[in-house]
Amino acid sequence: CGIVGYIGSKQAYPILIKGLKRLEYRGYDSAGVGLISHESKLNVYKAKGKVSNLEDTASQKDTSGHTGIAHTRWATHGEPCQANAHPHLSQSGNLALVHNGIIENYATLREQLQEKGYTFKSSTDTEVLVQLIDYFQTTYDTELLEAIQMALHKVVGAYAIAVLDRRHPGQIIAARKSSPLVIGVGTDEFFLASDATPIVEYTDKVVYLQDGEIAILENGKPLKLVNLDNETQPAEIKKVDMNIGQLEKGGFPHFMLKEIFEQPECINDCMRGRINGTLHEVTLSAVNDHKEQLLNAQRFVIVACGTSWHAGLIGKQLIETFCRIPVEVEYASEFRYRNPVLTNRDVVIAISQSGETADTLAAVELAKSQGAFVYGICNAVGSSIPRITDSGSYIHVGPEIGVASTKAFTGQVTVLTMFALTLGKEKGEISTADYNRIIDELLQIPEKITEVLKQNESIASLSRIFTYAHNFLYLGRGYSYPVALEGALKLKEISYIHAEGYPAAEMKHGPIALVDTEMPVVVIATQNAMYEKIVSNVQETKARKGHIIALINKQDTVIRKIADECIEIPETLECLEPLVTTIPLQLLAYHIAVCKGKDVDQPRNLAKSVTVE
Ligand code: G6P
Repeated sequence: CGIVGYIGSKQAYPILIKGLKRLEYRGYDSAGVGLISHESKLNVYKAKGKVSNLEDTASQKDTSGHTGIAHTRWATHGEPCQANAHPHLSQSGNLALVHNGIIENYATLREQLQEKGYTFKSSTDTEVLVQLIDYFQTTYDTELLEAIQMALHKVVGAYAIAVLDRRHPGQIIAARKSSPLVIGVGTDEFFLASDATPIVEYTDKVVYLQDGEIAILENGKPLKLVNLDNETQPAEIKKVDMNIGQLEKGGFPHFMLKEIFEQPECINDCMRGRINGTLHEVTLSAVNDHKEQLLNAQRFVIVACGTSWHAGLIGKQLIETFCRIPVEVEYASEFRYRNPVLTNRDVVIAISQSGETADTLAAVELAKSQGAFVYGICNAVGSSIPRITDSGSYIHVGPEIGVASTKAFTGQVTVLTMFALTLGKEKGEISTADYNRIIDELLQIPEKITEVLKQNESIASLSRIFTYAHNFLYLGRGYSYPVALEGALKLKEISYIHAEGYPAAEMKHGPIALVDTEMPVVVIATQNAMYEKIVSNVQETKARKGHIIALINKQDTVIRKIADECIEIPETLECLEPLVTTIPLQLLAYHIAVCKGKDVDQPRNLAKSVTVE
């Protein structure tokens, strides 16, 4: 799931290991490194599990060399084990290759290569690619670049690759199609990585490789980009605005906790320059720039995955309420394979923290091909989705490292709120009084989150009670229903406790059968239009002896008496409640996982940036 590369005058190994650690957050199950030593030997070391296991494996070995590639793998084809870890070597022993993505026609290519006498040491699709390059190189006696071009012409699928040739220690060749790859341009050195995080401590100059481009990184030469047909491509150098502090834990035990605590500041960053409290004005420049398409939209279709999809569900309610335009929210993976009905009057909103999720990216491509206007809501600046969408807004919450998304979610909801307000005002569907009131309240949200964060210790003690649980139910209605889904997802992701989010009233139609003394039920029961209804749902649950944890407002007297545990939430407008009620649910999941001794920042089997479908 992550690639790192280095070529220059420094020793490559420490840079590669540090780079892999920076990419750890993306999720992986094995790691490896390949280096060309000063004797032109190609040394490859790999290990199952963490990067520290790889360091142990390589500790007594020759790790010299100024040119190297490294990789963290998240298993797609073949189980996580040493043999399947990257880099993979060609049969000749001359080439080493790391790869992200999926080679879809690998089985056919593998058979063809076997007929030509190639044998395989792993069950990966990646090994097929390195053998194919080797085949073209030896059969046609070509340079590495040409062999790579020939091989990539034969490949169907997605890839970001980096290749070393033992006989050319001063060169790395990298290529991209549908999987991210960034090149760092230093002084007489180059870096290579799946995202900018391993690069920023060395240089802020980067080139985001485009689909179909091949980069030739060569000692003593400027960066060269070509396409598969060997036509030179322009290399556009961009400046990354990220600092090392943002990539470190800053005194917190986990990135996730740091990111939960960053939320007041992140939401301020997200609103900065976009909301003027004195004038009561929200301006999302991208909305203003594309007023015509947005105002004429007959429908919005939100596409996203995971936590971003939950933000989309909140976005639906916001846009429908304030703009009176129908909104559908789709899992990107379902949308893209369903032959959806789209017209040029539809606006597709793609929400993605990483901007690289393969299914969301494919959904955007599909929407564009059918003439829809596509608006992106992303966090990672310069990532693939914002590059191909027609317009969009960044959430500006800074790098999110914890695999379980927290600050990106609240950032997405904040942008969706500003989007609905800007458009609603333009459409004349929202009254000035409501518009002004929401702006006033939105500006208070960071402070209200800070109030909730003060309960961290009490939520931590509460969490200790629940380590026994095998199941959890999360209930909410209206704007709180997606929050219930998100709370359940957080718990599942990091504590491995099965959890389900449900619209509170739907509980009667199934999940209530699960409720007994062993079942903790988290209920979002803030004092809004849905309050009376929620009280009934809480009563129903209590009658079945469920253990109720309720999120309530201070003045609540009714639920306070019924619930077993209560967490107090500062009052705000109903449409803004998700920004506040999500916080204690993040903390609850976090502390339960910590109590259970789980790896909070890198939960098993999960990846931060899912660049495969
Ligand atoms: C993965 C992550 C989730 C994330 C989802 C969508 O599953 O583990 O935290 O919500 O991908 O990612 P995106 O980057 O598109 O928001």
